[in-house]
Amino acid sequence: MQDRLLVRPLTLSDLPVAAALLSAALPYDHVGPIVEEKLFGSNHRRDRFTIGSFSPSGDLLGVLAQAGRWVKLLAVHPSVQRRGIGTQLLLAARAHLTETAGPTVKLRVGDHPGNYLSPGVDERSVAAQAFFRARGLAEVVRVLNIRAPVHNNPLVTTERLHKLTSQAQADGYLVRRATVADAEPLHHMISAAFAPVWSFEVARALGPSLRSDATECASELPEGPAVHIALDDTGTVVAFAAHDGNNRGLGWFGPMGTLEQHRGHGLGEALLLACLLDVVDRPDGGVIAWVGPVGFYSRASGAIPDRRFVVFEEQ
Ligand SMILES: CC(C)(COP(=O)(O)OP(=O)(O)OC[C@H]1O[C@@H](n2cnc3c(N)ncnc32)[C@H](O)[C@@H]1OP(=O)(O)O)[C@@H](O)C(=O)NCCC(=O)NCCS
Repeated sequence: MQDRLLVRPLTLSDLPVAAALLSAALPYDHVGPIVEEKLFGSNHRRDRFTIGSFSPSGDLLGVLAQAGRWVKLLAVHPSVQRRGIGTQLLLAARAHLTETAGPTVKLRVGDHPGNYLSPGVDERSVAAQAFFRARGLAEVVRVLNIRAPVHNNPLVTTERLHKLTSQAQADGYLVRRATVADAEPLHHMISAAFAPVWSFEVARALGPSLRSDATECASELPEGPAVHIALDDTGTVVAFAAHDGNNRGLGWFGPMGTLEQHRGHGLGEALLLACLLDVVDRPDGGVIAWVGPVGFYSRASGAIPDRRFVVFEEQ
């Protein structure tokens, strides 16, 4: 069948049909608000290769979004699965990677830093796991999302946030929402002490008025910048937390960081809470994605394991 299908780059005019296909094919993801970001948003330092497979009559049957060596997303409409379309798109991704980076660079699926649908293949997606294994990829790591209840949770209240920010203030810190004017100091602090890609996500979280590469496809959110910061008594940014920096509009939390010498003052907890209170009405409000220190989050917000993902890589 795939011989008669046309594979071509997707354009913005394909967005509505691509959104319908992804909603039908990805039952565990709230793709609606994020389709444009996944297909056409910036991938930080990596190139963007977004393609579709079309029937001879022009119907979109499958979609693949690639960033460098990462397949960020691959989906075939449920009505035409198991007919070789996924294979055709994966081969096109492989060919693109060979052309741009060489034949020895390995394709990886899921955990693309800075712009990812989910940090791997959802453990419940049995067909997708079987597909990647059949195509010669193997599991390299499992990744966890956790979720903090944002409704009826005594740990996530404005009163508790007020208490934590007052305690921080007594220790000489100011906790507040960031503005676009904080972008530069935030960028320097995060790039130097944490990871440059976190700075990219924070830039997207700051919102469209920043007008940077990261805010391509980013819409305004009701609360404004989705970043909260703590400043020390010299006015220097020493801690930050963001949400909606990836999958903007869903309410995913992260990244966050407190400079080592400023830890132990409750800054991280206050900033986490400020973010969670922003996202109570989002489709995935409370999701803490691709987590490291689970203990911190569960103590601070009652977060518990939510979704598990399998990351695949070519062997
Ligand atoms: C994963 C997916 C893209 C595969 O697309 P597809 O067009 O159905 O795949 P193909 O027809 O090319 O399948 C190739 C091989 O993969 C394996 N495979 C695919 N689907 C399978 C299933 N449901 N069960 C077992 N093996 C499967 C088989 O070995 C198959 O070869 P065969 O049909 O000759 O036995 C598709 O199942 C899908 O869209 N799933 C939902 C989206 C998703 O979870 N994406 C991954 C995360 S981004």
